[in-house]
Amino acid sequence: MAYPARKHVLKTFTQVLELLPPQDRLKPQIVLLAGEVTPFRNDTDREMLFRQESNFYYLTGCSVPSSYLLLTYHAGTSLEQHPSIDLFIPSIEPADLMWSVPPPTKEEASQLYEATLVSYTSDLAAKIEEMHKALPDGIFHVLPKASPLFPVPPAEITAFEATGRTLVTDRYLLSALHKARLIKTEEEIALIRKANKISSEAHEVVMRVLGKAVQGKIVQEEGAGVVRPLLPGEWLIEKEAEAEAAFVATCRRQGAIHQAYLPIVAASTRAATLHYCCNDREFAWGPVKPHDHQNHNHFARSSDKELDPQVLLIDAGCEWNCYASDITRTMPIGNGGKFTPEARAIYELVLEMQKLSFDILRPGLHWDAVQLLCHRTLVKGFQRLGIFKTPSSPQSGSWNSEEAILASGVSAAFFPHGVGHSLGMDVHDVPSASKPAENKTIGNVIGNEAFYTYLRLRLPLEEGMVVTVEPGIYFHKHLLANVRDSKHIDHNVLKRYESVGGVRIEDVVLITKDGYENLTTVLSDVGWIEGVCSGEL
Ligand code: GLY
Ligand code: MN
Ligand code: MN
Repeated sequence: MAYPARKHVLKTFTQVLELLPPQDRLKPQIVLLAGEVTPFRNDTDREMLFRQESNFYYLTGCSVPSSYLLLTYHAGTSLEQHPSIDLFIPSIEPADLMWSVPPPTKEEASQLYEATLVSYTSDLAAKIEEMHKALPDGIFHVLPKASPLFPVPPAEITAFEATGRTLVTDRYLLSALHKARLIKTEEEIALIRKANKISSEAHEVVMRVLGKAVQGKIVQEEGAGVVRPLLPGEWLIEKEAEAEAAFVATCRRQGAIHQAYLPIVAASTRAATLHYCCNDREFAWGPVKPHDHQNHNHFARSSDKELDPQVLLIDAGCEWNCYASDITRTMPIGNGGKFTPEARAIYELVLEMQKLSFDILRPGLHWDAVQLLCHRTLVKGFQRLGIFKTPSSPQSGSWNSEEAILASGVSAAFFPHGVGHSLGMDVHDVPSASKPAENKTIGNVIGNEAFYTYLRLRLPLEEGMVVTVEPGIYFHKHLLANVRDSKHIDHNVLKRYESVGGVRIEDVVLITKDGYENLTTVLSDVGWIEGVCSGEL
């Protein structure tokens, strides 16, 4: 399936026009974008991983570093249906050929991308001048000029702007792109589906390696008389780092070059840190001091290994052709691959939060309602488990009713983040379109304001959106400090659950005409997770 750059260009100009004041809509609209440049590691002369700037890729499908894009649109002319797409790529430098793979030629690029014309970047200044002569009242749109988030605009446009001969504005383009990108095209959905498939398999691989180890099926073969290093199939996953390595290797093996974000691989109480990034601790063998990066693996090959039961939370997803996945699975480690009763109770409650969320997904539903439903489900579940107190009788007062607990906001100490976000080229896709300055929640969805602090999507759902559904329950000592004197909590019961650390379950779904489709294929029910992690399935 070819990348639909032309379709995306038309969607973007439609949004630009909606944002423009009426008197400017009939003027020619020109977009000038810079692509990302290859980053270099200092004092190595060596490239770091290149990843195209998302908006540039969206309008071109082109991952050639140091390229530029010039788009022209004019309502009421032939450019309205067929905007011109001028792509500028660097020419091949013979002196670079011995170091690097060259960019495509103009002819090759014309075959690869939906451009009207492919030129070399040396032609950019002349083309801008030509464009201005042909369309003197044209408005030049660029991305936020001073933002470090975007590549530096080309000197050609800065020089042109300095002449004062035309309007160069960064007021509309990013918002227009974000609005266009919020609703995915079928080609984009196919790319997100692919990223999810690979990541789903990578999650399953980690669980299967854990299960094989439980069955004692991971053994080191003989070496040739010397201690030899372990082969990949001989890795026992005994450290967060090994789980991360198995995940990333599986994605890379299947052609995914980038992870969509740094994997979060957190065992035990570290799972309560939402964006944990150390990924360097052994399982269960502790105590581990904070930020102790010298956590030697001295138990790994010895007989006194002790694998206390705990959970391992992996939040990781690869990127496929600039499209993300974002999947979290929480699995039992130690304990023969089975959850402890406390971990299982929390896991099942998070699964229920997710399932009830899935059940209401459809176009028109405001995302705030999903957030509130998850808090309501958590409150009911905690009342069942005895972590939250329940009224002894309907007449015993309303202070600890479900509604009163919701209104108090105490559940935000256990579920502090948003239930999900839009996902696309970036993991937290299109911020400006996802969270409008003025939230138009429908009806009386509320509970407590604290529920919405970190909610990154505050819109009614629409067909074609791709969102994550990622409820979680955490026992984080800093968050619990805020509720240590809460009258709603039975603090003795809570103590029994704190060592669970955290559970999150995260899937990526497409909003369809009358519901949703789950694009994440790795399963999450308790029977399957325990079956695989124990090596029984
Ligand atoms: N992986 C980051 C998030 O779930 O939002
Ligand atoms: Mn997410
Ligand atoms: Mn995630």
